[in-house]
Amino acid sequence: MVLRSRITGCGAYLPERVVTNADLEKVIDTSDTWIRKRTGIAARHIAAEGELTSDLARSAAQDTLANAGRTAQDLDLIVLATSTPDETFPATATRVQAQLGMTQGAAFDVQAVCSGFIYGLAVADNFVKAGMAKRVLVIGAETYSRILDWQDRSTCVLFGDGAGAVLLEAEEGSGDKSDRGVLSTHIFSDGRHHDALYVDGGPSSTGTSGHLRMQGQEVFRHAVNNMAQAIDVALDANHLTPGEVDWLVPHQANARIIEAMARKLHLPMDQVIMTVDKHANTSSASIPLALHEGISDGRIREGQLALMEAMGGGFTWGSAVARL
Ligand code: ACO
Repeated sequence: MVLRSRITGCGAYLPERVVTNADLEKVIDTSDTWIRKRTGIAARHIAAEGELTSDLARSAAQDTLANAGRTAQDLDLIVLATSTPDETFPATATRVQAQLGMTQGAAFDVQAVCSGFIYGLAVADNFVKAGMAKRVLVIGAETYSRILDWQDRSTCVLFGDGAGAVLLEAEEGSGDKSDRGVLSTHIFSDGRHHDALYVDGGPSSTGTSGHLRMQGQEVFRHAVNNMAQAIDVALDANHLTPGEVDWLVPHQANARIIEAMARKLHLPMDQVIMTVDKHANTSSASIPLALHEGISDGRIREGQLALMEAMGGGFTWGSAVARL
């Protein structure tokens, strides 16, 4: 017998305001055609003035708890993945903890940029496996609109705001790949690639929060290679063939990267959850947002196997396999 983290709930929140490519055409030198062709993005949600990462995270958390039939009093731990925290400290997770009315357990943030949800899932799953937590809320929440340089058309069209979450609950399993829950997580980083994707500010360097800077083609090349490697590791670790994967639930940065991953797995696109068209890249929120969409519209069903993968600044990357 082994301890497994079963996904017993999934929730999401997207800010009300939708900004389309046509809206962006009016304020910067870009075109709907360029954005769609290069990225697959048509629109993104943008947080309202005064709407914080913690607000998005709290709404996704409440949706998740409601879907799981649980309350904040049932939780041992909140792991919040974000690279756009409300403040330098304390952790945004602790603000969410307070807003949920949770006074027991612990809450902390994880920072792995677009791989944040996979990192958060890995941390939470290992807390469960070690017997240190029974119910963990893993949240990915971001307000990238606040760190974008809205004059830089090569980056500002690519990102959006949002939050998604899952509830993990400890359950005994056989240790076999037929178990429900998280079967494995795999995380990697290579800090030599800092300059390809970073934010040019921070409390210890400039004293400002800074703006996102990216060498797009460099990121694209590494994203394809690194996520392909993370997929191979995940399949090998679970003795899975690509044919046993029911759903690819990838980080949503670019439709072309997602299509390349689907081709690698020989998966038709109707077994891939794609939200990048409506949400753009919501960084650590993108995987739980996609998972939520797939579950709530009935595509992803109980007992099916989902493969998740992500890559982000650092570079960081990783994968996770879960049976719903
Ligand atoms: N609108 C119109 N033209 C644009 C825009 C824009 N928004 N942005 C750039 N261009 C122009 C450039 O100026 C350039 O013009 P030039 O040829 O006259 O110099 C031309 O388009 C081509 O620019 P490239 O940067 O070479 O375009 P590319 O095909 O590489 O696409 C993109 C850029 C979409 C950023 C791509 O490199 C990419 O998706 N990279 C991955 C980035 C990514 O996903 N980052 C997210 C974080 S990490 C992650 O989540 C995986």
